[in-house]
Amino acid sequence: MRKVTIGILGAGRIGKLHTSHIIKHLPQFQIKTIADPSLDEAWFQKTGLSHGINNPDVVFNDNDIEAVLICSPAPFHVEQIIEAAHTGKHIFCEKPISLEIGPTIEAIKAVKRAKVKMQVGFNRRFDPNFSKIKKLIDDKAIGKPHLLRITSRDPKIPPIDFLKLSGGMFGDMTIHDFDMARFLMQSDIDEIYASANVLINPVFNEYDDIDTAIINLKFKNGCLGVIDNSRQAVYGYDQRIEVFGSKGAVQAENNKPTNTIVSTENGVLSDKPLYYFLERYESSFVAELNEFYECIVSGKEPCVSGRDGLYSTLVSIAAEQSRRENRPIKLNYDACQI
Ligand SMILES: NC(=O)c1ccc[n+]([C@@H]2O[C@H](COP(=O)([O-])OP(=O)(O)OC[C@H]3O[C@@H](n4cnc5c(N)ncnc54)[C@H](O)[C@@H]3O)[C@@H](O)[C@H]2O)c1
Repeated sequence: MRKVTIGILGAGRIGKLHTSHIIKHLPQFQIKTIADPSLDEAWFQKTGLSHGINNPDVVFNDNDIEAVLICSPAPFHVEQIIEAAHTGKHIFCEKPISLEIGPTIEAIKAVKRAKVKMQVGFNRRFDPNFSKIKKLIDDKAIGKPHLLRITSRDPKIPPIDFLKLSGGMFGDMTIHDFDMARFLMQSDIDEIYASANVLINPVFNEYDDIDTAIINLKFKNGCLGVIDNSRQAVYGYDQRIEVFGSKGAVQAENNKPTNTIVSTENGVLSDKPLYYFLERYESSFVAELNEFYECIVSGKEPCVSGRDGLYSTLVSIAAEQSRRENRPIKLNYDACQI
């Protein structure tokens, strides 16, 4: 098996998670360097890796490194994509590429010019439940899709430091749901109407953000969809999807630690959903990096492309405009020529 030597940029929540998955499950990658200006030394010592540094530039200048995993906060993604492309490295970039259209296009063009691969971290496409829904839709098991319903609720609000740089709920969190909506309905979103509020914690007001939303979607192929989001579901990470079509419906329920149900005179009790993205989407995180490896060694194009990153950002910007102006917004793809 050919090993691909990589550098990881950013070792916060998601950088640590990818590092741990690579060490445990993905021997085809060799992590040479982890670069983070505030590297958690105690954590790094436990990884058994030897090269943990504070300066990401060292990774770009290292010719041994064939690919990078960009796991830094969103405002750094574009400059790091461009730098990686210039130095000929393949790129796995966490979502979002950027919270703005212009810089996203700039990054995609740099990748195209350099002829390197870039995969965007929409890991949910690789979740076994959601992949099965996609396959059933592709196999016409539910006929022609008509309606999509996504419930996507976090178990707890993110750390305040993260909130400051996150770019808001639609750009940070709902962007996964926008990508899943496009992926499952096999159509781009034509119109969006987002209704949102701060119902959980006033801290969101301080960042001009929201914590609760209902989003109505109209797709270009005529299908309709609705997404409901919350930053805090007290019973755990609530991640469910239903697609309804002309010949039936398919739905994915939450994953739980066990499927044991206890019934007594007081009621019927089951486990809560798996706690958060780390637990719920573990297999999808491994599968997306496996796909990235396959693209590097086989030369095939990543199935989650720069265009997917761009379109989801476009939708999240329209969602933000919709909730601020309290009206439906028609998506304008003219600015997205790549
Ligand atoms: N796919 C998913 O489900 C998922 C889950 C969580 C986060 N994310 C995405 O991953 C990215 C990081 O999120 P996080 O939760 O890990 O954030 P985080 O704040 O926990 O960690 C970010 C890390 O990057 C470091 N950093 C800051 N500037 C840097 C730079 N210029 N170069 C390299 N590292 C730098 C910080 O010191 C920090 O350790 C965000 O874009 C976020 O949206 C994706």
